[in-house]
Amino acid sequence: SSETSSVDITLPPDLFQPQRANSAGLDLTDENVLRELGVTLPTLPVDPDSGGETIRNPADLRDIVGHVALASSNQADAAIAAAVSAFPSWCVTLPAKRAEILFRASDLLEAETPRLISLIVREAGKSLANAVGEIREAVDFLRYYGAQVRDDFDNTIHKPLGPVVCISPWNFPLAIFVGQISAALAAGNTVLAKPAEETPLIAREAVKLLLAAGIPPAVIQFVPGSGETGASLVADTRIRGVVFTGSTDVARSIRGQLARRLNPDDAPVPLIAETGGQNALIVDSSALAEQVVADVLASAFDSAGQRCSALRLLCLQEECADHVLTMLKGAMSELRTGRPDGLNTDVGPLISAEAQAGILYYIEAMRHRGHRVHQAPVSDECGNGYFVPPTLIEIDNVFSLEREVFGPVLHVLRFERDAMLPVIDAVNATGYALTFGIHTRIDAMAAEATSRSHAGNVYVNRSLIGAVVGVQPFGGRGLSGTGPKAGGALYLRRLLRVAPPLKAE
Ligand code: NAD
Ligand code: ALA
Repeated sequence: SSETSSVDITLPPDLFQPQRANSAGLDLTDENVLRELGVTLPTLPVDPDSGGETIRNPADLRDIVGHVALASSNQADAAIAAAVSAFPSWCVTLPAKRAEILFRASDLLEAETPRLISLIVREAGKSLANAVGEIREAVDFLRYYGAQVRDDFDNTIHKPLGPVVCISPWNFPLAIFVGQISAALAAGNTVLAKPAEETPLIAREAVKLLLAAGIPPAVIQFVPGSGETGASLVADTRIRGVVFTGSTDVARSIRGQLARRLNPDDAPVPLIAETGGQNALIVDSSALAEQVVADVLASAFDSAGQRCSALRLLCLQEECADHVLTMLKGAMSELRTGRPDGLNTDVGPLISAEAQAGILYYIEAMRHRGHRVHQAPVSDECGNGYFVPPTLIEIDNVFSLEREVFGPVLHVLRFERDAMLPVIDAVNATGYALTFGIHTRIDAMAAEATSRSHAGNVYVNRSLIGAVVGVQPFGGRGLSGTGPKAGGALYLRRLLRVAPPLKAE
């Protein structure tokens, strides 16, 4: 349903020109400073009649996308019990049969494309092109893991784990939600599916389609809720494995929780955690500037920078820096930031008021510290949503990257001709290692840079985003993830255990 009546949310009129100087001694967590900057944190009202949370379109808060009833702790407990009971029959369902159901689900998902696009755009604020990409990726995951389990699964050696918790983020509300679940199901596990609190509606649609395709109802348990619900599922000793995609901090706390117990076979509880990045792109003076600009725009600002793979740090060799920067700023001014349902929209909204306020605040803090900031214009229609203009911030060293800034903010660093390897080392030293790229027309430079980087996904002369399932298995190292890579040959292995060897007669 949708409504256009007014909602009690006040966005400051100067949200997109937050130029006011701040007082000295910025504290990035201080709400008073935030208020001083004119950034208020609007709170979302919950419809008392809905029996749950109200989900609003982040591009236009007047648009109510739907309501979701959150799982109570008793319901979460009952969901785990049901997943435990369903395991014995699902784990002996033949791999070919499991694959057949996943293939059917992929067909159903594809057939529902128009409806799913609409929901993804309205609930997650994704552009039309991104919404199509989400559906394609979800379909690919279902078919890829289905084919793997049909063709490569040896059920005399590999056994499913049991009930597995799948916890997903809002930024790929369909692709990652379905990717995690399809892998766990393909491997013969039952699933507790905990979607992000921001995007439960699209997740609910995906579960409905999986059930319609033939997944037995108890095998997949839909548990919408907050991080607290996720934590309580992880903490339950009936859970035999966890698949998590989200922030590094939460992954750390899940790992700590799981480290306190073993599965019944005395093995650690398997965890797949895919987390954030400080992703860099190196550009040397031989690179083709037009190609660099196109790839930088896509890498930094597509999905409003809300991709784990997004470019955070552009490193320009001094000799080409002015030229590339001039072209880049010109191209940024042509980006259209606005409602994501527009055919010509390049950059949509951020997901929430908190995300918007945090990023506007970060930009102001950087400006206050003396960094040069360049911002693209936003269209007039942005006043009712959580928009942030595409922003470029010039920095002097990699240490300025304190944390992952999850939005349309690109840092630019210049480096001297001989300093490329130290720059890559400094990026490695952040501990994050998700995506990395180099633009060069010198093969030796490409080889040197790519072998030096610790990143999980390394690209040459292309953007950093849009890894394709089965073609570019995706995942990071260090603070960016545990592996194995999603959409890769080894992923299902983590969701299986090796059966004990046969005893000698
Ligand atoms: P988040 O960590 O806040 O939340 C992710 C999920 O974890 C949500 O479902 C949330 O409810 C749940 N959660 C929160 N606290 C929890 C806890 N203590 N125990 C269990 N579950 C808990 O992350 P987010 O803001 O939803 O997503 C953005 C982050 O995800 C970014 O850091 C981004 O880089 C990362 N990400 C990584 C990948 C990847 O493949 N590496 C892909 C997408 C997003
Ligand atoms: N797999 C997604 C990408 O490559 C996150 O952009």
